[in-house]
Amino acid sequence: MPTTIQTLRAFKEAGEKFTCITSYDATFSHVVSTAGVDVILVGDSLGMVLQGHDSTLPVTMEQMIYHTEGVKRGNQGALIMADMPFMSYATPEQALDNAALLMQAGAHMVKIEGGEWLCETIHMLSERGIPVCAHLGLTPQSVNKLGGYKVQGRESVQADEMIAHAKAQEQAGADIILLECVPSELADKITRCVSTPVIGIGAGADTDAQVLVLHDLLGITPGRRAKFVKNFMAEADSIEGAIKAYVDAVKNGQFPATEHTFKA
Ligand code: KIV
Repeated sequence: MPTTIQTLRAFKEAGEKFTCITSYDATFSHVVSTAGVDVILVGDSLGMVLQGHDSTLPVTMEQMIYHTEGVKRGNQGALIMADMPFMSYATPEQALDNAALLMQAGAHMVKIEGGEWLCETIHMLSERGIPVCAHLGLTPQSVNKLGGYKVQGRESVQADEMIAHAKAQEQAGADIILLECVPSELADKITRCVSTPVIGIGAGADTDAQVLVLHDLLGITPGRRAKFVKNFMAEADSIEGAIKAYVDAVKNGQFPATEHTFKA
């Protein structure tokens, strides 16, 4: 049975964790979806991972469509979430046109980064049959405004704002909230105060699901490894084995551990 947003809601209601991994092509999409991953993220992280840029800002709509089409061809039943790239959703009308292109390329939902200002866009897409994931916390497309890739929500004003944004986005029709690099206590609070599933990356163990960039979990990303990343290839004898180990570790609560988690 293919994974749908209803499947993810049922996981949350049952208190069962689910998993998400990035893929950018047909081969990895096949490997990841047959290994039991529930959601494939065609992330704009491909700008850094595949293209070698120092941010996600140069990624274009044409590139996201190309990679989403490839992921669709390899996918074996996972839900495909495609990132809307920088400035492709600056207005609700622009978001609608571009989200439609990603859905036609094979996405089952789109992801957009930002807070309460996105509510009008979320409402517009949702009303027209496009499921939306709202990405809060460290939003990489805003790296220049944030002053770097830093943990968000450590001060209580910022934390309260993030809770308010998540609630407003759920009200507007968001089907998933994604939290990146936030203290685990705050991620836990947000997860409990919305009924939409919450996916975390660097957000502790209490979110409903986890996401990692595939190349990070395979230990092949050059440079320093982020605190929230575990190299699952270190103890596996194949790529499939490493992905299955990640799925098992998330489902049985072993990943993320305290060492992968940020505190307030
Ligand atoms: O683009 C991406 O891979 C992402 C994840 C880091 C959540 O947005």
